[in-house]
Amino acid sequence: MKGDSLLWTPFRLGGIELRNRFVLLAHWNGLDAPDGTPTEDLAAYYEARARGGVGLIVTGSHAMHPSGQMSPNYGRAWDRDAIPAYRRIVDAVHPHGAHVFAQLSHAGHTSLEHPPKELWAPTQMPEPYSRYNTVEMGPAEIEAVVEGFAASAVNMRDAGYDGVEIKLGHDGLLRSFVSPFFNRRDDAYGGSFEKRMRLPLEVLAALREAVGPDWPISVRLCLHEYTPFGYDLDYGLEIGRALAASGHVDLFCSDAGTFSSFWMEIPPSAVPQLVFNDLNAALKRATPIPVVAFGRIKNPVDAEGILQQGDADLIGMARQLIADPELPNKVRDGRLGEVRPCIAGNVCLHQIAQRDPIRCALNPAAGQERRLGALAPAALPRHVAVAGGGPAGLSAAVTLALRGHRVTLFERESEAGGLIRLAARQPLHAEIGESVEYLASEAARLGVDIRLGAEASVDAIEALGPDAVIVATGSRPYMPGRDSRDGASLPVAAAGMWASMGGLVPGLADDPRVVSVDDVMTGRIEAGQSVVVLDRNAHWEACGTAEFLLEAGRRVEFVTPLGAAGVDLEPGNAPLFYQRVRPQGLRIAVHADIRSIGPDGVVVVDVHTSEERILRDVDTIVVAIGRRSNDALYWALRERLPTFRIGDCRAPRLLDNAIHDGDAIGRELDARLDGAG
Ligand SMILES: Cc1cc2nc3c(=O)[nH]c(=O)nc-3n(C[C@H](O)[C@H](O)[C@H](O)COP(=O)(O)O)c2cc1C
Ligand code: SF4
Repeated sequence: MKGDSLLWTPFRLGGIELRNRFVLLAHWNGLDAPDGTPTEDLAAYYEARARGGVGLIVTGSHAMHPSGQMSPNYGRAWDRDAIPAYRRIVDAVHPHGAHVFAQLSHAGHTSLEHPPKELWAPTQMPEPYSRYNTVEMGPAEIEAVVEGFAASAVNMRDAGYDGVEIKLGHDGLLRSFVSPFFNRRDDAYGGSFEKRMRLPLEVLAALREAVGPDWPISVRLCLHEYTPFGYDLDYGLEIGRALAASGHVDLFCSDAGTFSSFWMEIPPSAVPQLVFNDLNAALKRATPIPVVAFGRIKNPVDAEGILQQGDADLIGMARQLIADPELPNKVRDGRLGEVRPCIAGNVCLHQIAQRDPIRCALNPAAGQERRLGALAPAALPRHVAVAGGGPAGLSAAVTLALRGHRVTLFERESEAGGLIRLAARQPLHAEIGESVEYLASEAARLGVDIRLGAEASVDAIEALGPDAVIVATGSRPYMPGRDSRDGASLPVAAAGMWASMGGLVPGLADDPRVVSVDDVMTGRIEAGQSVVVLDRNAHWEACGTAEFLLEAGRRVEFVTPLGAAGVDLEPGNAPLFYQRVRPQGLRIAVHADIRSIGPDGVVVVDVHTSEERILRDVDTIVVAIGRRSNDALYWALRERLPTFRIGDCRAPRLLDNAIHDGDAIGRELDARLDGAG
């Protein structure tokens, strides 16, 4: 970054001066108490981001009225009894030089509960993605909303916050009032643009009167709903102009998408970075109010470009600052190469959508700052051998090296990364590869002795004479009847739900057309024209491979005993996957399994009724029905040296588990060596 960088220049906003242009975008993180009261964990979460250098923190949504909670553990800004707990957040953030706004919202017809208790809306109708109906609000409810926003803002001001952000964003009541689709009223609050704008304008006026002229008010503004029935950018800008004309708005924070277009609300990696640059720039030019840009901004060089072009005044990041709270300081210090990237896989989102505390695939400390925030230097530095340079092994190596241990890492292949290198070859998945690129680069920077093309045999490890060994040798595909300890001779069932698991399926073990995902993704085999993918994985392993084959021009039938392909994909990714693969002709058989594979065809069976169907002329059958640990080295070493197994070698799971396992052993090694081992 050049010396004339704008990112670390201050910005005046009403009565406050932000130290730089970085804004932590509002994101609810599930760290509140079960009734929504802020916790010590929540304060520590924001403190870590303030310490990392961000200029302005906008906290995740707080409900401004009990009816507005999206889930029972959503913030309770309306509650004066919660003010001391809110003050803890302010007190945690301010000493580090950051400012903090509280986002106020009424969830309206959006909820994380299944089923929700009661949803308020301008008109009785569910959000199209949802099956839950709403209450059509009357005058008393409208009044409660106006008063609730104003009273909650006063509470936040009394707790010491520097401002508030009103959410007229991708979810919530205020957007549904301005939306011609959701608002079908014909009273004073609907029927024309001016009437639809009435509620947000009343809220702003009441709020301004309550907090006075100098206290900053930001509006999170959904500029484009990205649904066939929703409003577009022109309408979004019209809303912006009307809000600006009120004279009560000090800052706009761009936003887009809705719960019915979730992939544009919190875009996963399949949506390009900087996807909303045009929206940000259009808002910036539509009114004189300063603008926070948003949307898949992760690279500081891109962020700088947005500022240099005058397309926004401030840079909003949510996930990138979840993944690396230290990014602003790293930019200031010219350490761009050390930024831990967000790979937009949305583990964080999947987590909170289930109302669980936030979790980040790449940053194990996110949401765990009080427990994992600081890395203690090793009391007694040791020499540690790490077998395997996939995400688990690399993560262990980095944490160990950061703590002062000497690390030698063996990787059998000529390149580190393990299975993630295969995952990154799946369509629109390149970004997942940044996880291991980052870890490998950190390991090298920290002086880990990385031995590529080196097999971690028992002899090689013993020759090294380490104090401890961490085995992270990954996993292999579960191929019944081939090289697994289970399955071949102990069938679970001959048919039905578990047919393909027991090794009883004729042909599954010995038909040469049966291959693994790894065979396909490494290029070891070339699939024929007509392919069946059998899936019990419910995630990208099967879905991404099916898409890879479709893109390579194959005809693919996807067979799964589950109710849908990719049931474990997070809610932004799953619809995009369907949007891509359906036009390419992917046929999906749900509640189905393979009963037999033979010269006459592949017999597919309905797992509930046992009804059979024969697929003829199948060239290749790709099975994604699980994996098994490559743990031979662990069992061979554990009597000879203090040995630990992590990642897929411990139990085959997803990337976040591998990285978190590695980090955990890196932190706990000393205690575990000094204890039982
Ligand atoms: C876990 C999570 C929770 C979120 N919660 C909120 C929220 O409470 N209020 C809000 O306005 N946006 C929320 N968002 C959306 C973000 O503010 C942001 O618009 C979105 O993540 C895209 O920006 P990014 O690419 O920088 O992550 C949330 C996003 C995530 C990932
Ligand atoms: S979980 Fe994934 S998407 Fe969310 S912040 Fe971490 S790296 Fe980014």
